[in-house]
Amino acid sequence: MKHWYDHAIIYQIYPKSFQDSNNDGIGDLNGVRERIPYLQKLGINTVWLNPVFVSPQVDNGYDVSNYFAIDPHMGTMEDMDNLIKAFHKAGIHIVMDFVLNHTSDQHPWFQDAIKDPNSLYRDYYIFAGKNNKRPNNWGSFFGGSVWEPDPVGTGESYFHLFDKRMPDLNWRNPEVRHSMLEVAEYWLAKGIDGLRLDAFIHIAKADLRQNFPTEDNDNQPVVAEPFFANLPQVQKWMRPFCEQIKQDYPDALLLGEAASASVNLAVDYTAKRNHLMDSVITFRYFTEDDSQTDPSFSKQYQPKQLDMTAFKQNQIVWQQTLTGISQPTLYWNNHDMPRLATRFAKNDTQARSLAMLMYLQRGIPIIYYGEELGLKNLEFTKADQFKDKSVNNFIKSAEQAGKSEQEALEMASLTHKLPARGPMTWNNAKGNGFTTAKPWINGKKVDQANVSDEINDKNSIFNFYRELLTLKKTNLFQNGSYYLLATDKNSYVYERDLGTESAIVAVSLSAEKTKVDIPQEYVNEELMAGEYQKKGKELTLMPYSGVVLSRK
Ligand code: NOJ
Repeated sequence: MKHWYDHAIIYQIYPKSFQDSNNDGIGDLNGVRERIPYLQKLGINTVWLNPVFVSPQVDNGYDVSNYFAIDPHMGTMEDMDNLIKAFHKAGIHIVMDFVLNHTSDQHPWFQDAIKDPNSLYRDYYIFAGKNNKRPNNWGSFFGGSVWEPDPVGTGESYFHLFDKRMPDLNWRNPEVRHSMLEVAEYWLAKGIDGLRLDAFIHIAKADLRQNFPTEDNDNQPVVAEPFFANLPQVQKWMRPFCEQIKQDYPDALLLGEAASASVNLAVDYTAKRNHLMDSVITFRYFTEDDSQTDPSFSKQYQPKQLDMTAFKQNQIVWQQTLTGISQPTLYWNNHDMPRLATRFAKNDTQARSLAMLMYLQRGIPIIYYGEELGLKNLEFTKADQFKDKSVNNFIKSAEQAGKSEQEALEMASLTHKLPARGPMTWNNAKGNGFTTAKPWINGKKVDQANVSDEINDKNSIFNFYRELLTLKKTNLFQNGSYYLLATDKNSYVYERDLGTESAIVAVSLSAEKTKVDIPQEYVNEELMAGEYQKKGKELTLMPYSGVVLSRK
């Protein structure tokens, strides 16, 4: 069966930072609705909204305390209904983030579970151990142990993979599976077009009695992914969930966040015969090269280069292995990592050519709001702006190695996820057209990117993205085969073929002039970033430039 999402071009909106319509400094649903014409102009056809449910905002909405209502900072249920309608009227599909591995500790289920150890909801979560002793040495993704003592003093501890205020749900319990399906169906019945399944690969945990082996077995928390990522029960428990959704809403897109999934697991998660997801988002694309980092202090927030050879290998493996199975997702950044223009692109030309390289491959593009303007990470000048202990530790380690606090803060601003969540910049005025109040996230803007300057400038990166997406929508780039040419680390070149149509995407990854031999002559220039010369079958690309050439 053919589905709309086979041709999805997704734009990721972090609603808190997109458009504030009531001037409280926090973006909201009505703000998103006001900006639909902009999204149409850009040419996307799907929006993924980060979480908008009621939440204490410990993790900006990924800590949900009520799945059936909208967070008052973002609007009301009526605003949401209006937004869904307005998107559909504009021909845009809407995919909501669905947080299913954990809830907020303020969720009534958890509150009930701690109030009464005999509560039905106790088994909605994972309690274990005695005398406040941690049942094992597993470490949380957000630092420290995954275990937190039961606040009412039973001596048991509860399990949390993320913040301690985000207890994990016990998916072993059929009632939990049933309840989460109910939530999903509630939203699909409202007319949304799909779900982005947050952290679904973590719903199953290994036997809790086992420590993850470490050299000195000192019981220090260690992130023990093999014990809580991609276990076989993930598939067993997700299958009835996904099957039921597909039975009730055959056209719903199920987009799984599978951060640590290998390509083979991605096959398992997306092969039709397995009745699970339609597509997954892996975090395994971006192998970093840390050879330029300073070994005398923590590497955690030191900027690193993209290892281009490994990146190419990753891409071809995903492109090739998923052929005939599912569509890979294509992206350069999201709210969990630094922005493209900060992390990988050396200049404006490269921001364009990397976009060309990524999105014209086979698969579903996911563009992170502001990326189309060349937006960069904010710069934070104080440690507490990061709201993350690991940054304080990084600064300490850098200072011990003789770096200044400011140098360490600069590095963290370039590499941390929070500065990538800055306000969308609509114009050059104070507040950048995002808000007239003090924005919820406060940092220094380090670029000139803004919509009002770019929208009418035919040479802007915004207009480059428009052309790129127009090309992406053509039959050749939607349905053509993909073939990566053997070139050295200085370039990335692939062909897309469909019947008699053919195009080549050739991108320089180098700061030097780069020559590429192409297999045949292409006559039409479809898209260009930077400069190039062509002589027969020889292409010369100027530093970081890229070009798409086609022939019929
Ligand atoms: C993945 C989300 O993308 C991230 O922002 C969040 O912190 C975790 N899941 C926990 O929900």
